[in-house]
Amino acid sequence: MEEKLAQLKTKLAEIVDLSQAAALLGWDQQTYMPPAGAEARGNQQAVLGRIMQEWATAPELGKLLDELKPYGESLDPNSDDARLIKVTAKDYAKATCVPTEFVVEFAQVTSLAQQSWVEARQKSDFSIFQPHLEKIVELRRKYASFFPGVEHPYDALLDDFEPGMKTEDVKAIFSALRPQQVELIKAIAEKPQVDDSFLHQPFDEQAQWDFGVEVITKFGYDWNRGRQDKSAHPFTQGMALNDVRITTRVDPNFLNSMLFGTMHECGHALYGLGSSPALDRTGLEGGASMAVHESQSRMWENLVGRSLPFWQHFYPRLQEVFPSQLANVSLNAFYKGINKVQPSLIRVEADEATYNLHIMLRLEIEIAVIEGNLAVKDLPEAWNTRMQEYLGLTPANDAQGVLQDIHWSFGGFGYFSTYALGNLVSAQLWEKINQDIPALDDQIRAGQFENLLGWLRTNIHVHGRKFEPQELVQQVTGSKIDPAPYMRYLGKKYSEIYGL
Ligand code: CO
Repeated sequence: MEEKLAQLKTKLAEIVDLSQAAALLGWDQQTYMPPAGAEARGNQQAVLGRIMQEWATAPELGKLLDELKPYGESLDPNSDDARLIKVTAKDYAKATCVPTEFVVEFAQVTSLAQQSWVEARQKSDFSIFQPHLEKIVELRRKYASFFPGVEHPYDALLDDFEPGMKTEDVKAIFSALRPQQVELIKAIAEKPQVDDSFLHQPFDEQAQWDFGVEVITKFGYDWNRGRQDKSAHPFTQGMALNDVRITTRVDPNFLNSMLFGTMHECGHALYGLGSSPALDRTGLEGGASMAVHESQSRMWENLVGRSLPFWQHFYPRLQEVFPSQLANVSLNAFYKGINKVQPSLIRVEADEATYNLHIMLRLEIEIAVIEGNLAVKDLPEAWNTRMQEYLGLTPANDAQGVLQDIHWSFGGFGYFSTYALGNLVSAQLWEKINQDIPALDDQIRAGQFENLLGWLRTNIHVHGRKFEPQELVQQVTGSKIDPAPYMRYLGKKYSEIYGL
C-alpha cells in the first residue's frame, strides 16, 4: 500500500505543480502583463485548465483512490495520509460527476459574461448583462443536477466554496444574525455621527505603501517567501508553499484602501504560508475553505487592525509619517473615524456593522434564483427592495445596485456567504485566542504579534485543507460556526465608540 500511496502523491504533486504554474500566469495577468498579452494568456490558461481537468479526472487516479480507501480507513482518521486519501477521493468524485463538455461550455459562457458585465456596469444597464446571467443561472442549476444526492440544489454550489456546508446551516446562521445586526445599526443611527473627514485628504502614495509594509512586516509576513505588488483589485495568490504573494492598491486621497487592504491580504497570505510542510504538493496545502480564509484576512484587518490596542502602538508612527494631516487628530478621534458606521450601497466599502447585511441580501437572492423562485429579469427590483428594507437606501442606478459585484458573471453563486461566515469565524476564534493568550491586548499594544501568529499557525494554518470548515471550527472552539461571538464583539466595540 505504501507504494500505491507514493504513486498517488507523485500524481497529486504534478497536478499541484500545474495548478501553481497556472496561478503564476494569473498573477502576472493582474500585475505586470502588457494589455496585448491577454489573448495569448487566455490560450495558455485554457490549455493548462484542460490538462488539469484531464489529470484530475483520470481513471488511473480513481483506481488508485479505490485501492487506497481501506488503507486510509485503517489509519488514524486525523493523520495526514488518511485525510489526503479522503479529501482527494471527494475531489475526484466531484470532478468526475461533471462532464468535460459542461466544463468547457461554462468557461466560454462565463468568459463572455464577464465582458458583458463590465460593459453593463459602465453603462449601468442591466439588460446588457441579463441574457448572459440567465444562461449562467441555467448552467448553475444544471451543475447542481450532476449531484443527485444533494438535499438542495444550492448545496452543490456552496460545497465548492465551503466544503460540507449546507444551505439550511447558512440560512439558520443568517436568520439568527439579521435581527441583531439590524437592531445594532438602528441604535447607532440614533447617536451623533463620528467624524472621519481626516481620512479623506491627500496622503503621499510612497509613504502610504511604506507604512503598510512596516505593519505587515511586524505581523510576520516573510519577504523571503512573499512579495507585494499593485493591482486594481487587491488579491493574494499562492504559487507554492514558499511563494505566497499579495497585492494592494493605494488611493492618494483616502488612507483606508491601502491600510486595511494590505492588512487583509497579509492575513490571507499568512494562512497560505502556514501550511504544514508535510502537506506541500499534495493539494491539501492552502486553506480549509473560503470562509476560514476570510476569517484570517478579516482578523488581521479588523480585530487587530481596527482595534484600539493596535493604534495605541502604531498611531504615533502614522502621525510621524503624515504630520500635516494627522498631528491635530487625537488617537481617540482616529480610532472612531476608522470605525465609522454608515449604511452604504457598496459592499466592498461597507463597515463592520453593516457588511453582513450586504451578504444576506445576496444570499436570499441567490437561493431564490437557483430554486427558480426569482427570475433573472426581476433581480434589480428584488435587490433594491431588500436594500431599502435592510439598509434604508435605494441605489440611484444598477451600477450601484445589482451590477456592483463581479461574482455572478464568473458563475460564483455560493461565494458571497463565505464573506459573512468569515466575519463570524474571525470573532469566534478571537474569543478563544483571548482565553488562551490573556495578555494579547498588551502584546498588540507593544507591537508584538508572534504569539497571535503562533496560535493561528498551530491551530488553523498548519492543517491546510485537511478538515472541513465546520469540523475545524468545532475542533478549535468547541462549537460549529456561531454568530454569537461576532454580535458580542460588535456590541462591545460600538457601545464604546457610539456610547450606546
Ligand atoms: Co479576502
